[in-house]
Amino acid sequence: MILLIGATGFLGKPVLEKLLKKSFKVSCLIRTSSSTLELEDTAKKTGGEVDFSTGTLQSPDSIITPLKKAEIAIYMVDLEHANLLENFIKASERAGLKRAVFISSTTVLIPLESKVKTKKIISENLIKNSGLDYTILRPSMIYGSKDDNNFSSMIDFIKKRRFFITFGSGNNLIQPIYIEDVASAIVSTLNNKKTFKQIYNISGKNPLKYNDMLEIVRHKLKKQFKSIKVPSGLGKFLISIYAGISRNPALTPDQIDRTGIDKVYSYRKASNDFNFSPTSFEEGIEKLIKELK
Ligand SMILES: NC(=O)c1ccc[n+]([C@@H]2O[C@H](COP(=O)([O-])OP(=O)(O)OC[C@H]3O[C@@H](n4cnc5c(N)ncnc54)[C@H](OP(=O)(O)O)[C@@H]3O)[C@@H](O)[C@H]2O)c1
Repeated sequence: MILLIGATGFLGKPVLEKLLKKSFKVSCLIRTSSSTLELEDTAKKTGGEVDFSTGTLQSPDSIITPLKKAEIAIYMVDLEHANLLENFIKASERAGLKRAVFISSTTVLIPLESKVKTKKIISENLIKNSGLDYTILRPSMIYGSKDDNNFSSMIDFIKKRRFFITFGSGNNLIQPIYIEDVASAIVSTLNNKKTFKQIYNISGKNPLKYNDMLEIVRHKLKKQFKSIKVPSGLGKFLISIYAGISRNPALTPDQIDRTGIDKVYSYRKASNDFNFSPTSFEEGIEKLIKELK
């Protein structure tokens, strides 16, 4: 039995779908505040069956029984919450779980200090010292479903407003990863002993300039839109005012700092160990645009 933790999130549905298509027995840990409807629909689509256990990482006792039934756990809760991870590790020891796959992020590699980066590094170290047969996957920015806050929000914005704002020159490199490739990577590592106690960066097929990414979106959307460039310094100033007055800001000044940095990550180790072969941005964004229609 595979236990999915974080199944109701953005990444959860494609992971569940891939596991069921490969005939794995799957159970999802669900908080009482969350709905299982979309996961049930996903299971129906594949003709597979999924089991649900109620529990929360806030209470280690609540996850002991589902962990006892599992041979492998897939942990998709943000590693920023090191306290939840500690609860998971302690509960796994008590339940006798040996193997878990964790989803971290290439944020830990960005050459800029931030609270998020520090917390995720602390969590990765907790995993490394846990005694589990772990695999840590570090995806770059994930896109490719209506639930993503990255490209689907961008496409939605462009469709409605016919313009898009870029902070900085747009000459920085990015390498976003298509969501199905993250799900495939998770499934490929599960029983692959080469991946035990290893960390892998996983990213899109090729790095591309932010400006070139915008051109691909323009071409695939078949819509003209204005690309407005705002210098980073001015952008940071404006976003700090906006973040100061908004209750739930969609952008923070830290994010403007990060926009100018090249985010290029080699996935060679993943290709060698579990044949990771990601989708190109052209192909991935075309699939996303079709899904959003
Ligand atoms: N999205 C990206 O672009 C991206 C990029 C790189 C790495 N990642 C990493 O990939 C992983 C999955 O990301 P995501 O975007 O799918 O996350 P998400 O949409 O925010 O989903 C988070 C999941 O964690 C569950 N969760 C939160 N607190 C919990 C608790 N106390 N007990 C049990 N479950 C809890 C949530 O359940 P509820 O439904 O109950 O809230 C939800 O299912 C994360 O580690 C993230 O850092 C994401």
